[in-house]
Amino acid sequence: MPRLDAIERTALLTAAIRAAESRRPDRLYDDPYAAAFAGDVGPELLAEVRSVTFPSGRARTLPSTPDYNAIRTRFFDEYLTAAVRDPAVEQVVIAPVGMDARAFRLPWPRRIRLFEVDRPVVLSVKDDVLGDPPCAVDRRQVGVDLRADDWTDRLLAAGYDPAAPSVWLLEGLLYYIPEPDVHRILDGVRAMTAPGSLVAADVVNGAALRLPTMRGLLDVFAGWGCPWLFGTDEPEALFAAHGVAATAVQPGEPAADYGRWPDPVPPREETEVRRVFFVHGLRTGD
Ligand SMILES: C[S@@+](CC[C@H](N)C(=O)[O-])C[C@H]1O[C@@H](n2cnc3c(N)ncnc32)[C@H](O)[C@@H]1O
Repeated sequence: MPRLDAIERTALLTAAIRAAESRRPDRLYDDPYAAAFAGDVGPELLAEVRSVTFPSGRARTLPSTPDYNAIRTRFFDEYLTAAVRDPAVEQVVIAPVGMDARAFRLPWPRRIRLFEVDRPVVLSVKDDVLGDPPCAVDRRQVGVDLRADDWTDRLLAAGYDPAAPSVWLLEGLLYYIPEPDVHRILDGVRAMTAPGSLVAADVVNGAALRLPTMRGLLDVFAGWGCPWLFGTDEPEALFAAHGVAATAVQPGEPAADYGRWPDPVPPREETEVRRVFFVHGLRTGD
């Protein structure tokens, strides 16, 4: 297997979480590909996260990454499935895709062109595990670095049409990205999306990057070499600044709970609490 760097290996962590979720009798989704994608490394990464999150003999203060991820996956499964019911939508961009198997798992209309964007080495590892299974959509892989200047050109070269409506999902990305590059990536999305397109992401709040009660989890990611770098208390304003009129939902709120979020959701005015948002909205015409 080609060597993955720390941030690329988080794709294996996510796959391991999805594999564990898929084994639960009360699972929020089934991902039959996840265990193979996770390999041996993914469960090792997950074990590190679990050991800091669920310390024996002490109450949990960290967010439950497995529950968060289960809710996130289900939430965005439903989001994408609903979005492509609009017959005008023919393009879906998952950036980054990591080991996400939605191309195979979700019931896509046949007209959909699905762009899987990630670093080239991640896509190559994914291909090695997958082989060449049948796919109901026109699946196109785009190997790029989203922090580089050329990723939009590479997407265009893969057949993406920026004048046609599209649906975008930036899942499990923005907290690893330095703030100036977050804005550059969202500018790129803006340049690539026609008005009426849909854009979604998950993003943590500012306190999640600095609260002492987050330390254990932050230290794990920093120790791997992929620290969490970006958070915002105003995800709607972040998206608005990049041409997307968005709403933000937190796990544990009625629209994103599924009976699984174990923690209270304090009112938005409270800033010194950890939060994560599912932010999604409509590309406006400006
Ligand atoms: C936590 S995984 C999430 C993957 C996928 N969205 C999912 O939910 O399964 C993070 C992914 O971000 C990718 N990534 C991080 N920084 C990137 C960059 N600058 N360009 C492209 N991909 C990047 C990594 O390679 C990895 O696959």
